Order: sequence, then C-alpha cells, then structure tokens
Amino acid sequence: MAPELHELLRSLRVWDPEVTALPPFDPATAPAAPLPLFTRWFAEAVAAGQTEPHTMSLATADAEGLPDVRIVMLHGADDDGWSFATHTHSRKGGHLAGRPYAALAFYWPVLGRQVRVRGSVGAAPARRGRRICTPVPPGRWRRR
Ligand SMILES: Cc1cc2nc3c(=O)[nH]c(=O)nc-3n(C[C@H](O)[C@H](O)[C@H](O)COP(=O)(O)O)c2cc1C
Repeated sequence: MAPELHELLRSLRVWDPEVTALPPFDPATAPAAPLPLFTRWFAEAVAAGQTEPHTMSLATADAEGLPDVRIVMLHGADDDGWSFATHTHSRKGGHLAGRPYAALAFYWPVLGRQVRVRGSVGAAPARRGRRICTPVPPGRWRRR
C-alpha cells in the first residue's frame, strides 16, 4: 500500500462522537415487518441532516454469479417493496433479467445506521423503467 494512502486511512475515523450519534438498537426488538422501522429511520436520518439519505447501493450478479454494485436513488418504499428506476438495457438491467434478485444497502453515517434489504426484483407496471425489490426472509425466496 502506498504510504500516503496508509497514513490517510489511519487518520480517518468512523463514528466520531463529534459528528455521529449512535442511537441504541437491539435487533431483538425489531418489528417483524421492516417497512415501519425503515420509514422511521429514514425520517430520522433526514431530520439529523444526513446528506443524500435516499441514495443506496444496489448489488446484482451477472450470469456467472459475479457480483456488481452501484449507487441508485430510492424512489419509494411500500408494501410492494423498495423501488428504483433504471434502464433495462443497462448492465444492471441485464443482470436482473437473468437473475431477478438484488440487495440494497443504505448507510446514514450521521446516525451510524445501515439498512440492508434483499429479495426478488420485478418490473413495476405503473411507471416505465421502475423496478421493485421485494424483501423476503432468507431462504424464502419468491418470484414476483
Ligand atoms: C448519487 C447517484 C445516484 C444515481 N442514481 C441512479 C438511479 O437512480 N438509477 C440508475 O440507473 N443509475 C443511477 N446512478 C448511476 C449508477 O450508479 C450507475 O453508474 C449506472 O446506473 C450504470 O450502472 P450499471 O452499469 O451497473 O447498469 C446514480 C449514481 C449516483 C452517483
């Protein structure tokens, strides 16, 4: 590793108490349905001044199973799932056509919170190019 990179990395912190609040969270108390908790946490991230809280990492996999990831914008979250818009002819569109599953990750550093969502992905009929990622419990995949 280049010494400059090493020094730079050593100089950085995560969860610096001067800029990060760490609200307590006991996963055992999480509600069975994730949407209300996501909605509350999203609102809290906005209220805490998190920049671009509606951007998220979207992971897909190609035909060989090789993963890829990129940033997209959240368009909505409701009982149908988490939705984003993209072109079907993009690389991720090709991945999703072959393997209609994805994972999302949000990170809201100001509160030290991350949210992970994974599940099947289907094209939303209402708006062209909109896709919906429906979370399902691990091991209980379902197709939309
Ligand atoms: C802040 C930000 C928001 C973005 N939002 C979207 C989006 O909503 N939809 C999208 O298709 N690409 C979005 N992009 C571009 C993707 O990250 C990516 O570069 C592009 O979609 C091509 O990805 P692919 O080659 O894996 O298909 C965004 C990029 C950034 C940095």
